[in-house]
Order: sequence, then C-alpha cells, then structure tokens
Amino acid sequence: MERTIVVTGGAGFIGSNFVLQRVAAGDRVVNLDKLTYAGNLGNLASLKGNPRHIFVQGGIEDSSRVRRLLEEHRPQAVVNLAAESHVDRSIVSPEEFIQTNVVGTFRLLHESLAYYRKLDAEAQRDFRFLHVSTDEVYGSLSAADAAFTEEKAYEPNSPYSASKAASDHLVRAYQHTHGLPTLTTNCSNNYGPYQFPEKLIPLVILNALNGRPLPIYGDGMNVRDWLYVGDHCEAIAQVLDKGRVGESYNIGGESEKANLDVVRTICSIMDEAHPAGAPHEKLITFVKDRPGHDRRYAVDTSKIKRELGWRPRESFATGIRRTVEWYLANPEWIAEVTSGEYRRWISANYEARECRA
Ligand code: NAD
Ligand code: DAU
Repeated sequence: MERTIVVTGGAGFIGSNFVLQRVAAGDRVVNLDKLTYAGNLGNLASLKGNPRHIFVQGGIEDSSRVRRLLEEHRPQAVVNLAAESHVDRSIVSPEEFIQTNVVGTFRLLHESLAYYRKLDAEAQRDFRFLHVSTDEVYGSLSAADAAFTEEKAYEPNSPYSASKAASDHLVRAYQHTHGLPTLTTNCSNNYGPYQFPEKLIPLVILNALNGRPLPIYGDGMNVRDWLYVGDHCEAIAQVLDKGRVGESYNIGGESEKANLDVVRTICSIMDEAHPAGAPHEKLITFVKDRPGHDRRYAVDTSKIKRELGWRPRESFATGIRRTVEWYLANPEWIAEVTSGEYRRWISANYEARECRA
C-alpha cells in the first residue's frame, strides 16, 4: 500500500533530496515548507505534475495549517526537516531560530499528538514522528576526544545548536510524557546537490568558479565529519522503517576533515575541471573566525550500523567529486539561488570579516 509521509522543509537542501528519494521509492509525500530564503521549489522541478508529490506552502508554527493538513492527508509519518540551519545567521539574527526550531517544532509535535490520538489502534501502531537533528547539539571535541555517541550529554554552543537541542528535548518529552512514537536522528555535516551556497562546500565551489576569495575562518583546522546527502536520506528512511521508538540515532559519513583540507580538495578538483582558474588554491584567504567556533565534531555511528545495518556508500573522495560536478553542470540553478537575498548575506557576512570579492 502507498504510504503518505508529511515532510517539513522539503524544499530545502536535505529535504528536497529526501523528497526526491522517497517519491522515487513509491511514497506519497506531502511537503510543508514556508519557502524562506533557503527553500527552493526549483530543487523539485523534476516532480512537476507527479501526483505523489503535494506541495503546501506554510510554516510548521502555524498550528491550524498543520492541523488541516494532517486531517486532510492522513499520513503514516511526519518527518521534520524544517529549520533555520545556518550557524553564522544564528549569531547575527537568532530570533527566527527560536521561532522555527523551538516554537515551530513544539507546535508540530502538539498537532501531531492530537492527530495521533484520534487514530485507531492499528494506525497508532504504525505512526512515527521523525525529527532530524544535528551532531552540533553534543558540543565541541578536542583532537584526542572520542566521537559523540548517542549517550553524550548535550552541550550546544551556538544559538543554532541551542535551538536544535531545545527541539530535541521537546521531541523526547512528547514521547516520554504522551507516548507519541518519535525517533530522532543526529547527523554530521551534509554536502551534495541543491545545498544553498552559504555553507562551506558550495560557497567554495562557486567562489572558485568565479575567481573570488575562498574564505577560511580562523586557522582552518576546525574539523567536521562530512556525510553525502544521499547517504543521509537513506539513513533517515531506514530509521523511519526500522528504528526503535523513543531512540535517537547518530548518522555520519566516516570522513573527518579539517576545513583547510576540504577546501584544498575542492581546489584540486576545480584545477582539473576548470583549468582556466588554476591553481585555485591561490584564492584561499584566512578571515576573522566565527565567534564560539566549535573545534571538532565526530560521530560514532556504531548504533545505526549495528541495529539497522546502514552504512554510508560514498567516501569523501567520491562524494565531493560528484558534488563539484553537479554544481558545474547546473549554472541555471546557481543563477537562480544567487540573486537578491544571497548577495545581501554574502556582503554582510564577509565584508565584516574584511574579505571582499
Ligand atoms: P536548509 O536551510 O537548506 O532548508 C530548510 C528548509 O526549511 C527550507 O526549505 C525552508 O524554507 C524551510 N523552513 C524554514 N523555516 C520553516 C518553517 N517555519 N516552516 C516550514 N518550513 C520552514 O536546511 P538543511 O541543510 O536542508 O537542513 C535540514 C534539517 O537538517 C535541519 O533541521 C537542520 O538543522 C538539519 N541538519 C542539517 C545539516 C547540514 O549539514 N545541512 C546537518 C545536520 C542537521
Ligand atoms: O554538524 C552539522 C551542522 O553542519 C548542521 O547542523 C548545520 O545545519 C550545518 O550548517 C553545518 O554547520 P557548520 O557550521 O559546520 O557548517 P558550515 O558549512 O557553515 O561550516 C563548515 C565549517 O567551515 C565550519 O567549521 C565553519 C567553516 N567555514 C564556513 C564558512 C561558511 C569557513 O571556514 N568559511 C566559511 O565561509
């Protein structure tokens, strides 16, 4: 039987990759997205006219909109990807992070519980609320520390990660207190097609292509684990199908890298693909650090591997090559997303760091 999933934030980077993957797998997806600067229906252009994708513009904080949508479409699952997601923006304008990530997740949970309570016993047994969170809620590691396990106490350091931590706690409370069948995933840094170029990897690809500075915060030795977005979406689907209710699952790419190494790898792929600009490394520019910049994230993924049999398919070497090739092959998508709001953000963030194109 065809399954209906409500996906929130399905016009964003991970959300649109997840929607494309689920529709291809045969699910019917009701996509609730507010279409902020980060939402882009162009990511879903290939689903135009497909009856298995229903797009609804609206915010997760709009309780009556969410209520009507749940009653009308009768989903078997809600997957919450809607969020304000950029750490640098949360430092300069945190208000939206609280409204969407905290208040919005709370209202989505509350309406989902009301809907769940009216289901019959069989439908209640099958229903799931899956919340997509981040490894950033666990805090920052030093080089010698062991990777984050699901038992690690939360120590969020940025307004973004604090708002995600708050939403995770609300999810936990709705499961513990009210019995809503929830699942939480905590993933590392995603990269791949359709990522808005405010984040490190697409920003560096686009700047390299245009001969602009490649801004590296601080000393460039902050470490992130890099997860190819397609692998992440498969992991979410497996947690939805087989995860244990009330549990959280770490998801990572087994690819810890210092930022400077990530940027150098992109430069060497660009040297081959775009020899006119070589060597692209000459564009590397060290700029003022991000306040409170977490030094290192690393996730221990043994739980999801052991319990669900998931593991990433892409290595960083294969995933980053696919990603650079995707951006080079999609100039129209780039032109569309790098207009108005994008330009405003780039000049506000980088001119303050004294890095000008
Ligand atoms: P994104 O910023 O690319 O997309 C967010 C989407 O949510 C956009 O389409 C936007 O329009 C929508 N949205 C924002 N506020 C909304 C609201 N109030 N109601 C409905 N829709 C709203 O984000 P992303 O990178 O795709 O991240 C998706 C989720 O994954 C987020 O919860 C984020 O915290 C989490 N996450 C992301 C990463 C990463 O590396 N990108 C890593 C770990 C966790
Ligand atoms: O760890 C998961 C998190 O990964 C997600 O929860 C967030 O939603 C997502 O945005 C991402 O957060 P980061 O802050 O790690 O991603 P970002 O791409 O902004 O930065 C990656 C690293 O690169 C980080 O150490 C900061 C650095 N950086 C970033 C930018 C934009 C630079 O050195 N220069 C830059 O211009």
